Amino acid sequence: MKVDVLLGLQWGDEGKGKAVDVLTPRYDVVARFQGGPNAGHTLEFEGQKYVLRSVPSGVFQGNKINIIGNGVVLDPALFKTEVEALEASGHYLKQKLHLSKKAHLILPTHRLLDKAYEAAKGDAKVGTTGKGIGPTYTDKVGRNGMRVGDIFHDFNRKYARAKANHEQLLKSLNYSYDLTELEREWFEGIEYLKQFKLTDSEHEINSLIRSGKNILCEGAQGTMLDIDFGSYPYVTSSNTVCAGACTGLGIAPNRIGEVYGIFKAYCTRVGAGPFPTELPDETGDKICTIGNEFGSVTGRKRRCGWIDLVALKYAVMINGVTQLIMMKSDVLDEFEVIKACVAYNVNGEKIDYFPYDIDAHIEPVYVELPGWQTSMTKMQSEEELPAEFSAYLFFLEEQLGVSITIVSVGSDREQTIERHTEKE
Ligand code: GDP
Ligand code: IMO
Ligand code: MG
Repeated sequence: MKVDVLLGLQWGDEGKGKAVDVLTPRYDVVARFQGGPNAGHTLEFEGQKYVLRSVPSGVFQGNKINIIGNGVVLDPALFKTEVEALEASGHYLKQKLHLSKKAHLILPTHRLLDKAYEAAKGDAKVGTTGKGIGPTYTDKVGRNGMRVGDIFHDFNRKYARAKANHEQLLKSLNYSYDLTELEREWFEGIEYLKQFKLTDSEHEINSLIRSGKNILCEGAQGTMLDIDFGSYPYVTSSNTVCAGACTGLGIAPNRIGEVYGIFKAYCTRVGAGPFPTELPDETGDKICTIGNEFGSVTGRKRRCGWIDLVALKYAVMINGVTQLIMMKSDVLDEFEVIKACVAYNVNGEKIDYFPYDIDAHIEPVYVELPGWQTSMTKMQSEEELPAEFSAYLFFLEEQLGVSITIVSVGSDREQTIERHTEKE
């Protein structure tokens, strides 16, 4: 059996939560492989809206096993709040949500350090979500981290040692703080974690593969936020790309099957860093308003721009994307003209590959396509789609060399259209 992976191709918030929820009926298992509560994955169905942070998006469709893998960083306090809210709305997770003992714990002091480092960076700040992601992965790689499995192994001593290290760092950064409340919630979270199945999830997932189960891995963030291939240093601290599913779950590379690459019909970014097709004008504001582009974690206004095919081609290459899913198509319903960036002009030179230095002045080279100016939000089949929209899809497929098999025309689970095109 092969394992499929769904991941973002842009700067995050592509609509991964909705897409995973739509695909879940085809799978027995949904697994998160990286990131943490910096993610905000939104799902809408039956008039209800849910925003998931650490919990995989496969929890709403039947009794599927959902796994939080070793590559994830987990904040017990936020996890408790998230799961309790889901339970209050009638979704019980304790039996079906399994957590890797090797997932690293976000400590209260990691959250403080995230904020302290950002403050110290001044104008060069990354604009993180402030959830302690960078400091937690730093401790993981520096071999100072605490893992979920440590809850049962010399926990208090390990916690005291990590806290003392962090407090020294906070002192050197002149950061004032009060840990009392944060620590109280965190220790309650630790107790709460004990009610869940804490597993050697790499063994579990490989045994599920051997027994023929269908598994979908859910990415967080997006390829352009990947620690190695994203717009460094304005990135997150994990491997968001397909290879991250292997290291973040213990899945061998030759087990990977379909790679669903998901993107918006345009492009957004939240936080600082280069964004070649950004539209700091009325058009960008219009996309933001229609698309309701405000961060699901921090509420920050997302920066908006036209689709960037140079960056998307790069993402398709790095991830080995086999199928594309286009989200938020309806957001462009009103536009007379749609633009797509097909190359960059860098210091007078036209390039069609994603360059090392994207801080340099980059001018996007656009192709213009006619808009469809028709509402697609109630459409249910490929046949109903306006000709101009289909032409946009064909253009993108030709540019990217991969079929777009699903298009999303609204935030609800039902507003999803499958296309029956041949796979590449
Ligand atoms: P994720 O982090 O990749 O899961 O994406 P987010 O949930 O952060 O952001 C996507 C936003 O777009 C959410 O508010 C979704 O409800 C919404 N959304 C998803 N698909 C569509 C769509 O096709 N059309 C519209 N208008 N909204 C969508
Ligand atoms: P989902 O999974 C969009 C961005 C932050 C910041 C940078 C580093 O919902 O797509 P971090 O807190 O990870 O250290 O912040 O990455 N970022 C996201 N942007 N969607 C996300 O997740 C993001 N997670 C982190 O805004 O620029
Ligand atoms: Mg999001």
